[in-house]
Amino acid sequence: MKVLVTGGCGFIGSNFVHLLMKDQSVSKLTNLDALTYAGHPQNTSDFKDDDRYEFVEGDLRNKSLVFDLVKEAELIVHFAAESHVDRSIESPDEFITTNIVGSFNLLEALKNTNPKARFVQVSTDEVYGSIQEGQFTTKSPIEPNSPYSASKAGADLLARSYHQTYGLEILITRSSNNYGPRQTPEKLIPLMIQRATAGQALPVYGDGSNVRDWIYVEDNCLGVWQACKKGQAGKVYHFGGECEKSNLEVVHQIIESTGANKDQIEFVKDRLGHDWRYALSIEGSEKELGWRPETDFNQGLSKTISWYKENGDWMKAVSQKIETWMKRYEGD
Ligand code: NAD
Ligand code: DAU
Repeated sequence: MKVLVTGGCGFIGSNFVHLLMKDQSVSKLTNLDALTYAGHPQNTSDFKDDDRYEFVEGDLRNKSLVFDLVKEAELIVHFAAESHVDRSIESPDEFITTNIVGSFNLLEALKNTNPKARFVQVSTDEVYGSIQEGQFTTKSPIEPNSPYSASKAGADLLARSYHQTYGLEILITRSSNNYGPRQTPEKLIPLMIQRATAGQALPVYGDGSNVRDWIYVEDNCLGVWQACKKGQAGKVYHFGGECEKSNLEVVHQIIESTGANKDQIEFVKDRLGHDWRYALSIEGSEKELGWRPETDFNQGLSKTISWYKENGDWMKAVSQKIETWMKRYEGD
């Protein structure tokens, strides 16, 4: 099978590339990535000499490039996005052009050049907004609260409409918060690991009581791959970790595991419009795809911390790329 992955140099996309390159049913994997601040070529360097792997440095917003690549694929798995909520609050422009217009270009390419191919739109629990109690189901209303989640919701709705209107083989996956190797250290877990280890302040938004449902990235990737192979077009599949934790609990666990000090915690100004809690029902994915998250949080976090410790060069190079963004933590 010929697969086009978008965003394969990012966090989840690169973990997905690693998974698919082990699968001999994949005869060719093309990775389209613009190498933004969040895309790191070293994330897929294991495959650079592999004949089954092709890297194309390019932008989703380049329509003719997107048309050329989509027409060659049997399966398109669309991870590429601007993904950081805080950046979307400060400057949403790229979120609109990449997440909405970029996804639209892929869908147009599918319709016009390759209507028999399968398309998987990789999305997020954040499109449902925040939930006080219970869990989001795949039928919950779409009520995004940040420019990031609104842009993802826009893309999801376009994807849905291209299935409904043109009968294309499109499905959507939505996952909760991923953690694991190769995540850019602007996001909570790698940021806290990096700063805890360096003896720096650990900036917790608000009072740290917001809740996220954590899933080890390889579990999400296995779910997305199952959805690619067995999912029904027109449907939405949830991949949650069944592992709800407050941010403060996560930070405390990182402090314990890295030998850092509780005094490093610093409560800082809250995120604007900060979603209180996310929680996903995974019933449909269990029943239809036979999928469940396998990695327990303690085990996953310990593997993650070890990976960052063993990959200091990666952390250094990636941190340099996000130096300007990280200036916000200066003086902490
Ligand atoms: P990431 O920010 O780590 O990686 C995004 C990748 O997309 C990078 O390699 C970047 O270079 C590439 N990219 C960005 N703009 C592009 C453009 N215009 N053209 C081509 N490539 C471009 O993101 P991630 O955390 O790996 O998330 C991947 C996907 O999964 C996103 O769609 C995100 O919305 C979704 N998601 C993420 C999480 C999470 O916890 N990280 C949870 C649920 C869903
Ligand atoms: O739920 C899925 C989403 O998870 C994905 O769609 C997004 O792409 C991904 O970035 C992630 O969004 P969050 O906003 O939940 O992740 P982040 O790591 O930015 O923050 C997790 C929680 O930690 C959130 O409640 C904000 C808080 N936080 C974050 C940072 C960066 C802090 O308290 N301090 C921080 O410095």
